[in-house]
Amino acid sequence: MTKLLRLLPVLFVLLLAAPAVQAQFDQTPGPNAPTSKDEVQLYQTPDKLTGRVSIPDGKLGVLVQPEGREWREFRMVWLKIIAGVLFLGPIAALAVFYLIRGTIRIHGGRSGRPVLRFGGMDRFAHWTTAVSFLIMAVTGLVVTFGRTLLIPLIGHPNFTTLAEASKYMHNFFSVPFVIGLLMIFVLWVRDNIPERADLVWLKTMGGIFGKSGEHPEAGRFNAGQKGVFWAVVFGGGALAVSGFLLMMPFAVTGIGGMQILHVVHGVVAALMIALIIGHIYIGTIGMEGAFDAMGSGVVDENWAKDHHRRWYEEQLRTGGANQDERLRHHAAE
Ligand code: HEM
Repeated sequence: MTKLLRLLPVLFVLLLAAPAVQAQFDQTPGPNAPTSKDEVQLYQTPDKLTGRVSIPDGKLGVLVQPEGREWREFRMVWLKIIAGVLFLGPIAALAVFYLIRGTIRIHGGRSGRPVLRFGGMDRFAHWTTAVSFLIMAVTGLVVTFGRTLLIPLIGHPNFTTLAEASKYMHNFFSVPFVIGLLMIFVLWVRDNIPERADLVWLKTMGGIFGKSGEHPEAGRFNAGQKGVFWAVVFGGGALAVSGFLLMMPFAVTGIGGMQILHVVHGVVAALMIALIIGHIYIGTIGMEGAFDAMGSGVVDENWAKDHHRRWYEEQLRTGGANQDERLRHHAAE
C-alpha cells in the first residue's frame, strides 16, 4: 500500500505531461517537414548505404541503393511512355498508310493455281510462337498499365484477380513461346541469311510505294521478312533470357542486375510489340493473299510471282514436278 502511495506523485506527473507529449506527436508538419516519401532525407542520399547483417541473405544489408530511384522512375514513368508510344505510334502510322496506300493487291488478280508455301510444321511453329507472343504481350501490358488504366476502370478487387491470372499466364506461356522460337530458328535460319538482293529490296522498300506488281526480286524470304526473323530471334531470345532471370529473383545477379534485366525486358518487349503490329498489318489487311501463306499454307501462283519470284522459280525447277503431289499430301495432312 505504501508502495502504491509512493507511485501516486509519479502517476500525477505523467497525467499532467500526457497532453504535452500527445501534442508533440500531433504537431502539424512545419514548413520544412517532408510531405512525401521522396523528400525524406534518406531517400535523397546520393551514396549507397550498406551495413552488415548476420543472416545469410547479404543483400539485405543494403539500406539505400540510389540507382533504385532511377529504376523506379523508369518503371513508374518512362516505361509507360515508351510502351505507350511504341504501341499507339505504329497503329496510327499504319492507319494513315492504309488510308493512302490501301491493300496491296495481287498483280493481275488471283490465278486460281495454288503453290505450297508453308507445310504443317512451319505453320505449327509460327502459330505456337505467335499465339504465345500475343498472350505474353497482353498479360505483360496488364502489369505495365494496370495500375494507371485498369484500376480506375474495373476497381481493385477485379484488377487483383486479373493481375494474378496475367502473371500466371505470363509465366506459363513462356514455355510454348521458347519452343516456338527454337523451332522457327531451326526451320527458317537457312532461308534468312542476308544476301546481295536484299540491298535492292531495302533501297526500294520492297516496292511498297511502287505500282502493283513492281516488287523487287526475293527468295523464300525478302529483306523485310529477314529483318523480322532476326529481330524475333534476338529480341525473343533477350526476352526469354531476361524473363527467366526475372522469374528467379537474385538467382544469378544482385539488385542492380535485376533492375537492368527488368529495363531490358520492358524495352525489348515494347520494341517487339511495335514490330509485330507492323507484321500483323502486312500479313492481314496490308497485302492481299499474304494470310493464306500461314493460314492454309498455300498461296496463289500470282502472289508468289509478285512477292517471291526467285523462290517461285526455284519451286518450279526443284519441286515443280512434285507440286501437285505435295499439294495432295498437304491437303491430306
Ligand atoms: C520466355 C519468355 C518470357 C519470360 C520468361 C517472361 C517473364 C517475365 C517476368 C518474370 C516478368 C515480371 C513480371 C512481374 O512484374 O512480376 C515479365 C514482365 C513483362 N513481360 Fe515478360 N517474359 C517473357 C516474354 C515476354 C514477351 C514475348 C513479351 C511481350 C511481347 C513480354 C512482355 C512483358 C512485359 C510488358 C512485362 C511487364 C514489365 C513491367 O511493366 O514491369 N514478355 N516477364
